[in-house]
Amino acid sequence: AKLGVVVVAAGRGERLGAGVPKAFVRLHGRALLEFAIATATSLPHAGHLVVVVPEDRAAEALELVERVLPANSPWEATVTPGGRERHESVRFGIAALPDSVDTVLVHDAARPFASAELFERVLAEVRRTGDAVVPALAVSDTLKRVDADGVVHETVDRAPLVAVQTPQGFPREALASAHETVQLQEGGEHGAPTDDAEVVQRAGGTVRTVPGERRAHKLTTADDLTVLESILAANAA
Ligand code: C5P
Repeated sequence: AKLGVVVVAAGRGERLGAGVPKAFVRLHGRALLEFAIATATSLPHAGHLVVVVPEDRAAEALELVERVLPANSPWEATVTPGGRERHESVRFGIAALPDSVDTVLVHDAARPFASAELFERVLAEVRRTGDAVVPALAVSDTLKRVDADGVVHETVDRAPLVAVQTPQGFPREALASAHETVQLQEGGEHGAPTDDAEVVQRAGGTVRTVPGERRAHKLTTADDLTVLESILAANAA
């Protein structure tokens, strides 16, 4: 039973406007992607890591992997080019995993400080239940539905709502076949799925939640850089 981790880092990061893809933005002298590679390969499992990056960043990503991975690591790693949408990048990532992998964690490079404990919590729940598992946090803000002009139409009950993060975990077969199904449906009534749990759900699978964590915050806009800086400072040894 081998673990596979797919780190998706092939987004262009247009909302951030940093001029480089989000995963290659530097934080304290390190590319964002390095943090996720380090955490994934610190897990005490013999695993296979696939890093999915923009085609023209493949050589750079390989250097990062070689720098981060200890020579005696039980982890193997490969770098593979991504697609136009996140779900395509994930599909290419899954395809690059060796056949021996039976459980997959998919993680956004844009969440550099998701902890090893979170990876383990998700993995344990996948292995316990055989279902898809996502980290989730309660929503604390009051939520409103607005129209295109920003005019409020209603307050949405937040009690049954959660915000979900990555890493998200799956039995490999369920994830791979769900991604095949979604690909066939493309251009249908739904927009592109923004996470893998949705892909599995559309295919009829059960998705469970485990507690998420604030430090798994995602870099989306420039404001998030400040949040990540403070998480890094708080967790520096
Ligand atoms: O754009 P967003 O914040 O939703 O991206 C989440 C993650 O998915 C990021 O780590 C990004 O690099 C990755 N991604 C990707 N391929 C795409 C789009 C996004 O690997 N085509």
